Amino acid sequence: MVSKRLQEIPASGTIAISNLVSQMKSEGIDIVSFSMGEPDFTTPANVIDACCDSLRSGNTHYTPSMGIPALRKAVADVTRETNGVPCQASNVLITPCKQAIFLTALAYIDPGDEVILADPSWVSYEACIRLAGGMPVYIPTKFEEKFVIDPALIEAAITPRTKMIILNTPSNPTGGIIPRDVLKQIADIAIRNGIKVMSDEIYESIIYEGKHTSIASFPGMFENTIIVSGLSKSHAMTGWRLGWAIAPEEDIKAINKLQSHSISCAVSFVQDASVEAITGPQDARDAMVAEFRKRRDLALDLISEIPGIQCNVPDGAFYIFPKYDADLPSAKLAEILLKEGHVAVTPGSAFGPSGEGFFRLSYATSEEQIREGISRIKKVMSQL
Ligand SMILES: Cc1ncc(COP(=O)(O)O)c(C=O)c1O
Repeated sequence: MVSKRLQEIPASGTIAISNLVSQMKSEGIDIVSFSMGEPDFTTPANVIDACCDSLRSGNTHYTPSMGIPALRKAVADVTRETNGVPCQASNVLITPCKQAIFLTALAYIDPGDEVILADPSWVSYEACIRLAGGMPVYIPTKFEEKFVIDPALIEAAITPRTKMIILNTPSNPTGGIIPRDVLKQIADIAIRNGIKVMSDEIYESIIYEGKHTSIASFPGMFENTIIVSGLSKSHAMTGWRLGWAIAPEEDIKAINKLQSHSISCAVSFVQDASVEAITGPQDARDAMVAEFRKRRDLALDLISEIPGIQCNVPDGAFYIFPKYDADLPSAKLAEILLKEGHVAVTPGSAFGPSGEGFFRLSYATSEEQIREGISRIKKVMSQL
């Protein structure tokens, strides 16, 4: 019998669809999948070379649990120089991004604590909060407001049990960005109420309008923030499992206690390769972002031709989050699209109650697949 803790975790709304996709593909059915949150590109060659060099030089052992000094320094330098966050190598813990989120939740959330987050939000936050014994407190966001969270609603939701606010900009699933002035208001609220912010910035370099702002860059806010980020999305390195947490030293030490008792350290040769990913040439990363922009524009053009569908122009990440007017739940719509149209999307309801009436489409796939997949969606929607 699994633990009560695990029993309380809601089943992932994405699992039913991905199980069906695998089953249908194994039956030889040609599926266009828009459900994967990962770039279709291969990791840049200089990073792969650095990894092979590291392996050949015998770097196959444990590293310090916080990560190798060169990588901690590279992460701190780039975050300070690009985002204006006042961090040093001692503020960095190297760990996969999702692990950073999970460990942060375990390190700070006690049973009964409340954690404020946007609705809709990425699926794993709620699971991490609940595994730690906490309660998610969803703040509804609106399509008409590009899903930007309202600081006044955050403030109104604060209770004596509020332990943390989770932010994600650019956002999965909406592709939306929290504007700088809104982040500043949230920073003021967090400081005033002594509440920590976990700021998930994994899509920080996939941005099409303006510049990324880290909430930790506002005066007095670094002390209150745990940034989580990584290389999965920016450098097409999802399989390498490399990310980090950046926070004040005492927080990093606390999170490291959990790291040292769980995965011990990130993979040794992947850490060497990641130094190259961060400090080496960035032309491959920039080319991927340029390609994502083209695909975003193409996906938006094609989806806007479907009657009954509306979509915001997302400013970052690689998702669009269309709203549909057909009168059926998003899980049902996703099932029909898959079974009848052979096209996989993620139902909006997987991301929280306000995601109902939407679906998420990841355009991190080829132009050809985008054209084919959206024409399949159009055909199915016309028959609903
Ligand atoms: C918003 C968000 N945060 C964190 C992650 C986890 O990233 P990683 O695969 O690098 O652990 C993802 C992956 O989909 C994500 O979309």
